[in-house]
Amino acid sequence: MSEFAEIILEGKSYQMPVVEGSENEKAIDIASLRAQSGYITLDSGYKNTGATTSAITFLDGEQGILRYRGYPIEQLAEKSNFIEVAYLLIYGSLPTEQELQDFSDRIRRHTLVNEDMRKILDGFPSTSHPMGILSALISSLTAFYPESLNPNQSQEEVDLSIIRLLAKISTIAAWSYKNSIGHPVNYPKNKLDYCSNFLHMMFAYPTEDYEINPVVVDALNKLLILHADHEQNCSTSTVRLVGSANASLYSSVSAGISALWGPLHGGANQAVIEMLEAIKADGGDSKKYIEKAKDKDDPFRLMGFGHRVYKNFDPRAKIIKKAADEVLTALGINDPILTIAKELEEAALNDPYFVERKLYPNVDFYSGIIYRAIGIPTDMFTVMFALGRLPGWIAQWKEMRENKEPIGRPRQVYTGATERDYVSIEKR
Ligand code: CMC
Repeated sequence: MSEFAEIILEGKSYQMPVVEGSENEKAIDIASLRAQSGYITLDSGYKNTGATTSAITFLDGEQGILRYRGYPIEQLAEKSNFIEVAYLLIYGSLPTEQELQDFSDRIRRHTLVNEDMRKILDGFPSTSHPMGILSALISSLTAFYPESLNPNQSQEEVDLSIIRLLAKISTIAAWSYKNSIGHPVNYPKNKLDYCSNFLHMMFAYPTEDYEINPVVVDALNKLLILHADHEQNCSTSTVRLVGSANASLYSSVSAGISALWGPLHGGANQAVIEMLEAIKADGGDSKKYIEKAKDKDDPFRLMGFGHRVYKNFDPRAKIIKKAADEVLTALGINDPILTIAKELEEAALNDPYFVERKLYPNVDFYSGIIYRAIGIPTDMFTVMFALGRLPGWIAQWKEMRENKEPIGRPRQVYTGATERDYVSIEKR
């Protein structure tokens, strides 16, 4: 028998259907509430609002569970690679050997970008943040592939857009970095795997050979996998919302990149390193900064701590913390900010302020330390997050499209002035 929730308003009862997910998550479907009662629901920040049903990622914030298409993140991070995870997220199942080969080969063959893209890149001032460049250049793909603007593209055409996007984002990301330091860009090499190719484009010089370190490739694969999807977060919701207006895949993802840029979201990995650097420069007193984070009159927040949905621990942070230790040991790096990070973590985990509010280190607390160790500059950290999150954005955009979801359009409770007459300027 179907379950209903009863909502009583002004003495009248309304029955709203209850929806249940495959992991027994329950929701009240209030879509018809306004039509029936004139009421809407209000939930600033969408803290308790499901915007969609989705079969891509399962997350249980209380128990610290994260699964892509049913597969635990721990297993994927240990056994899979980024391209396989991208396939899994986008197409719903693990690929066969042949499917994976075809998918990787197609991505390799599309990594070149139109030479005119370099002219656009050249137009950006050296002060540009690479996230702004990335968002702009991804949006500009619509100019190079105008057919992507057609909302009625066939599945085959959509697949091609997906391949192009996955392939070109790494070239565009690496080029935005090379451009920012005034160095010549490197062209992709088709014989390399995805992560190695990205490292080559980031770090090779025309003057000398670049040796790819398997430890770094492995760490990069892990980081990208851990960031690959996270259900309806701010940037993903942005991608779905923009896409729901029938905007192209490229413009929807470009909007997602802008959302991710914010320091409360993907920008946190950059903010964490900047915070750790600042603490080091200030004498390395982590306790002082714990006190600042607790002081409500001080805007300082402990970056890399807290999460909207994880209220016990962030499973990605657990994996990444171990990976950070492994990478630093393998590369023989002794980073003093790692000591500060560990002290901060220890102090926060034992402080009632953080314990009571269930504030734990999130994925970004350690990701920046690995990126730094493998030579990625700080202002590229969020670009790395975007590279990782891309398969998730694509999968969510594709799901939204296949489910034929209506245009996203929240309502509001108006609190402004009631009707008043226009006052001419001389009388104001
Ligand atoms: N440092 C100090 N206090 C904090 C912090 C923090 N990092 N995070 C939350 N709090 C406090 C907050 O002041 C509030 O206290 P009170 O109840 O006394 O008013 C309480 O904890 C609840 O916080 P909230 O801001 O209501 O929680 P939220 O779910 O709206 O925000 C968050 C989640 C991630 C934006 C927030 O924890 C934060 O700003 N963290 C730092 C930024 C960060 O690391 N972001 C990366 C998130 S992980 C990557 C991703 O998936 O995007």
